[in-house]
Amino acid sequence: MRQNIVAGNWKMNKTLQEGIELAKEVNSKVGAITPKCKVVLGTPFVHITEVVKTVDASKISVAAQNCADKVSGAYTGEVSASMVKSTGAQYVILGHSERRAYYGETNAILKEKTDLALTNELKPIFCIGEVLSERESNIHFDIVKQQIEESLFHLSAGDFSKIVLAYEPVWAIGTGKTASSDQAQEMHAFIRQLIVSKYGEEVANNISILYGGSCNAANAKELFANPDVDGGLIGGASLKADDFLAIITAF
Ligand code: 13P
Repeated sequence: MRQNIVAGNWKMNKTLQEGIELAKEVNSKVGAITPKCKVVLGTPFVHITEVVKTVDASKISVAAQNCADKVSGAYTGEVSASMVKSTGAQYVILGHSERRAYYGETNAILKEKTDLALTNELKPIFCIGEVLSERESNIHFDIVKQQIEESLFHLSAGDFSKIVLAYEPVWAIGTGKTASSDQAQEMHAFIRQLIVSKYGEEVANNISILYGGSCNAANAKELFANPDVDGGLIGGASLKADDFLAIITAF
């Protein structure tokens, strides 16, 4: 059966020292409970090695927020999937809408990144989601379908099974405007059905599909209660240990 996951995405926040403090606090608070979900911390690259050392790996995994679409070489400023893997990170967030919008990441580029992540035994947390105008034009299902088909549907069933999906409607990210529980469930069920049609029931039932976008302590319980919502990818509310803990304990 699929795993429930609560993953924090720190984005470009926290100095190294602040990040270590936050990881320590999350680690001690998660250590005091028996979480009913996998906990992941998505930190900036420079934090990963220290955060990996700080947390109890039996309860908390670490994710990078990106990796390069090239193997190695003269790509100044880039960080490869093999470098990420060598830090001890187990996951990599790919296709976040901020990467798509501000750094020009297309479905084709994200296909390359996904392949390199999998080759290096990193589990992609692959983000998909529509912008507000696409929802208002009622093409949000088409957009999400295209994102998944163009970046992921070349994978074998075995490789696809290693992916975690995160549905993040762009209009809900950092806006305080969460998708309603019904909107989240409707899209998650659509995504799962799409996976059924390509890979069959078994693969689809084992894929975790997370919700992201203004998910917080007040709305997590209702969102996570949906049959096709298997956890959350949390931005702002992952930057304070108590807020993040409240989401973890929503399961
Ligand atoms: P917020 O939780 O801050 O809306 O961000 C969501 C997100 O983008 C997680 O990747």
